[in-house]
Amino acid sequence: MSLQSLFHLWLLGISAFSTAQSLDQNPLQPPPVSQSEWDDLKYQVGGRLFRSAPFAKPCFSQPFPSPSCVEVQDGYVDEGTRANTPSAYIQSQWETCQVTGEQCLLDYTNPKNEEPTSRQCLPGSIPSYFIDVQTPEDIAAAFAFSKKTRVPIVIKNTGHDYKGRSSAPGSLALWTHNLKNLTYNPKFTPEGCSHSSPGVTAGAGVQWGEAYPFAEKNNITLVGGSDKAVGVVGGWLQGGGHGALSNTMGLGVDRVLQFKIVTPDGSHKVVNECQNEDLFFALRGGGGGTFGVVTEATILASPPVKLQSLILALKASTATKRMWSILADNALKWADEGWGGFSTSQVVILINPKLSSQEARESLAPLIDFGRSLPADEVELDITEFPTWGAFFDVFTKDHVAAVGVSLALSSRLISKGNVDTASHREELVSALLAANTATPGLIILITAPSSFPSSGKTSVTEAWRSSLYHVTVISPWNWNATTEEKRQNYKRASDSIDNLRRITPDAAYLNEADVYEPNHEVSFWGEHYPKLLRLKEKYDPNHLLDCWHCVGWKRNSARFSCYL
Ligand SMILES: Cc1cc2nc3c(=O)[nH]c(=O)nc-3n(C[C@H](O)[C@H](O)[C@H](O)COP(=O)(O)OP(=O)(O)OC[C@H]3O[C@@H](n4cnc5c(N)ncnc54)[C@H](O)[C@@H]3O)c2cc1C
Ligand SMILES: *[C@@H]1O[C@H](CO)[C@@H](O)[C@H](O)[C@H]1NC(C)=O
Ligand SMILES: *[C@@H]1O[C@H](CO)[C@@H](O)[C@H](O)[C@H]1NC(C)=O
Ligand SMILES: *[C@@H]1O[C@H](CO)[C@@H](O)[C@H](O)[C@H]1NC(C)=O
Repeated sequence: MSLQSLFHLWLLGISAFSTAQSLDQNPLQPPPVSQSEWDDLKYQVGGRLFRSAPFAKPCFSQPFPSPSCVEVQDGYVDEGTRANTPSAYIQSQWETCQVTGEQCLLDYTNPKNEEPTSRQCLPGSIPSYFIDVQTPEDIAAAFAFSKKTRVPIVIKNTGHDYKGRSSAPGSLALWTHNLKNLTYNPKFTPEGCSHSSPGVTAGAGVQWGEAYPFAEKNNITLVGGSDKAVGVVGGWLQGGGHGALSNTMGLGVDRVLQFKIVTPDGSHKVVNECQNEDLFFALRGGGGGTFGVVTEATILASPPVKLQSLILALKASTATKRMWSILADNALKWADEGWGGFSTSQVVILINPKLSSQEARESLAPLIDFGRSLPADEVELDITEFPTWGAFFDVFTKDHVAAVGVSLALSSRLISKGNVDTASHREELVSALLAANTATPGLIILITAPSSFPSSGKTSVTEAWRSSLYHVTVISPWNWNATTEEKRQNYKRASDSIDNLRRITPDAAYLNEADVYEPNHEVSFWGEHYPKLLRLKEKYDPNHLLDCWHCVGWKRNSARFSCYL
């Protein structure tokens, strides 16, 4: 063997060693990348590469509170502020390293308290750098950089992810937030196809709070989620995307006409029914952050829908059992008739795009009679017609604001039609819901399954969605000063609570709002589609430049997951 080739082997050994060390032994530090490599990347992305700093950092220095700290305090539990901030996440544990306790959090119950100056502010699991993405070339440059340096890539859109899939320690984030293009074409033809339909094309950073008013202005309906700040095109869409209209109008994935995506090989692809069909299948339910970075998507626009609505609010939860029994007793009929909505132990909100006002009242008679049977000071009952989805959404979101800036464990289950087909099944279901509601706060029954919307056979979400009626979620929250053991207990508590439902339902859950420790996640999220999705992952991302928790083809041992408990 020549001296030169020995030298070459020696160099390889060194780099293998330093990679292993940086990825596995010191996961909070980015792999050693020279300043000139970062500078090169910065040059390639037009200067839009930045070092990240924790959102609450200004509050951890003297003088306290500085004006920039006051801004952080004021926006600490505001969803919009967090979505606008590259290093902020809606559930704050994804800014922290849960394993080591490294973090930079305020007290979400009182962000103004004086306490934090005595603590340290550490980056936890926020990405080390981010690119303010403007062009497909930015994304291609990041992939090439990651392939060379092994610095992990994450995609940060709005930071709503419940499973921490948009942050990772030592990573480079592709911040898609500023891709805000939004256009409507009444005759959109997917490239390479010959048919057309009305479509809205949204850049990767567009949020529902922008898309709904745009739809109102254009006299169309877009089917989206129940939160203003969630993204239209990112995790929501690629993982399923449910909303109160999904029963009759489908999931987000049912309504995509076309994606544009930069795949890990750096190419910018058009993906629709007529080209790259395999990727079209994968992106319609396979999950975000897995096959590439979507730069825009075109989704179906429908004519405006008039909505019949009912809101029933109980002052106390003593009548919850009766209320949920009425929901269960009528669940199949109401799904067929087009109702969608939400329920907690004290509220039912239902909307319907198919019935007239008179038909709606007849259909919901059992619920209306129940409301009227209660003492007037214990109940509010409101039956209204809204001219459009946007009009309903404005009223709905005024009163229903999600928990923001808090750390929490979520767990969930899809409830099937089989769970309400006999009296004993219905009784069993209501008991399980009540037990889960006792075990954890904040149980929500989301009546958002595509119960009347048949599968096209071309989406990759679990087919169990189609035979489901409800998606049920529970949460278990903790504050900034919880111990590691308390965090573990909260994850367990959420999971144990949902076990009440796991015991009686098919193995199915919604991947975007699932237990971080979902026990059989490949089957729960994708059912029979998993093997095909795994083949597509290997085809489009053979080097695993993208990876995320419980995503298709994930590698649990990757250093990017070192902050998960
Ligand atoms: C308050 C709240 C309300 C919610 N309401 C609903 C609801 O009504 N219906 C519903 O279905 N879900 C809902 N969700 C869940 C939501 O779908 C997920 O949180 C989803 O992951 C958010 O996607 P995002 O792109 O906005 O967020 P991010 O956290 O930024 O990203 C989430 C995931 O998507 C990936 N991703 C983001 N952008 C891209 C892209 N351009 N290309 C490829 N991958 C990308 C990321 O890698 C990450 O894995 C809600 C969540 C919260 C916190
Ligand atoms: C946004 O739209 C403008 C005008 O149509 C276009 O020039 C630009 O390329 C678009 N940007 C992206 C990222 O698609
Ligand atoms: C909105 O669209 C509907 C049906 O598509 C149509 O009947 C109605 O006239 C339109 N309204 C306006 C203001 O354009
Ligand atoms: C955690 O912080 C909260 C609010 O700041 C405080 O009330 C509580 O006592 C603290 N708990 C512990 C264990 O320090």
